[in-house]
Amino acid sequence: MITFVGTANPGFAPYAMEELRRRIKGTKVSGLAPGETFAFTTGDNDAEQILTELRRKEPIFLRHIFPIEAEKDVMNSPVKTAEVLKEYALTLGDRVKGRKVAIQVRKEQNSPFPYTSAEGRDVIVPVIQELGGETVAREADWIISIYATKKTLYMGCSLPRDNLSDWPGGAVRFRKDEGLISRAAFKLLEAERAFNLPLDRFSNALDLGAAPGGWTSVLLERGLKVTAVDPAEMDPSLETHPRLRHLRKNAADVSFSPGSFDLLVCDMSWDPHHTCRIVSELAPVLSAGGSGIITLKLMYRKPFQSIQDLMEDYGHEFDIRKVKQLFHNREEVTMWVKRK
Ligand SMILES: C[S@@+](CC[C@H](N)C(=O)[O-])C[C@H]1O[C@@H](n2cnc3c(N)ncnc32)[C@H](O)[C@@H]1O
Repeated sequence: MITFVGTANPGFAPYAMEELRRRIKGTKVSGLAPGETFAFTTGDNDAEQILTELRRKEPIFLRHIFPIEAEKDVMNSPVKTAEVLKEYALTLGDRVKGRKVAIQVRKEQNSPFPYTSAEGRDVIVPVIQELGGETVAREADWIISIYATKKTLYMGCSLPRDNLSDWPGGAVRFRKDEGLISRAAFKLLEAERAFNLPLDRFSNALDLGAAPGGWTSVLLERGLKVTAVDPAEMDPSLETHPRLRHLRKNAADVSFSPGSFDLLVCDMSWDPHHTCRIVSELAPVLSAGGSGIITLKLMYRKPFQSIQDLMEDYGHEFDIRKVKQLFHNREEVTMWVKRK
């Protein structure tokens, strides 16, 4: 039996726990940082089988996991904490020899753990080097995860693919560009990675609910032609872009010839069922096999039921490829679909 630390977006841990309980019989869960992190045990199940199953069909709300290999009481003494971290790192021996190793240190708010993430990492780096490993920030062979709650220090080492995300706690960070039009742009950048869907593969995009233009600017940067639909104004820096056409209209009132686009993106701030009706009516404007990236606002109290209903409705026109709450999603999830 292995125990893991699981992480979800703030407030969504109860749904991530529920998802695990439904998917994997015998899973036992207990909360750590309220609403955000929790521990779960795999019961009688084989851990490898569970990891394979989670990779096969990624959970919607569970963002990140790592296996707990050691746990100790959290102390506020830097010297004693360094001893504990080094002692754990030394147990990794041959696993890290000749390998690239990322060290990810996180702590819950109000934890007495005495180090920042960078300081905690700096304590472990020399040990990994002594063991013959190379420490890296990204594209590691192994990830060492350290997570401190108010009471307990959890430590584990795992393959990046077994963590669901190779970012610390699944918190994907993008560099803040000076010219960033809206933070919403991060959602599309994260979706591109999460769905392994390079946007430069597409050539002609329809962006519904496009203003002020964060998503549009990402698509333009990738070299696409974009038709942006939104009654609101686009950022002035975009209005004269030669590959952008802005229709200042409600998305319910636009029409295009069949197969006009190979990508449809939609981030409309509206009831998700209305949005679904509009997007489904516009489905024929997508060429066969074209992709859609759509945010589903979670406006109702029962997210699982809402998502299930929406998947059924979208399923008439589209193949649902993935639904995921991204790190940059707040009260919403992001769905990737393909035109049937
Ligand atoms: C969250 S913002 C979109 C942000 C955008 N993705 C970006 O990256 O800048 C939602 C937008 O949806 C638009 N919207 C809401 N209902 C709409 C509708 N029925 N048709 C077109 N746009 C709509 C709003 O005007 C608003 O600009």
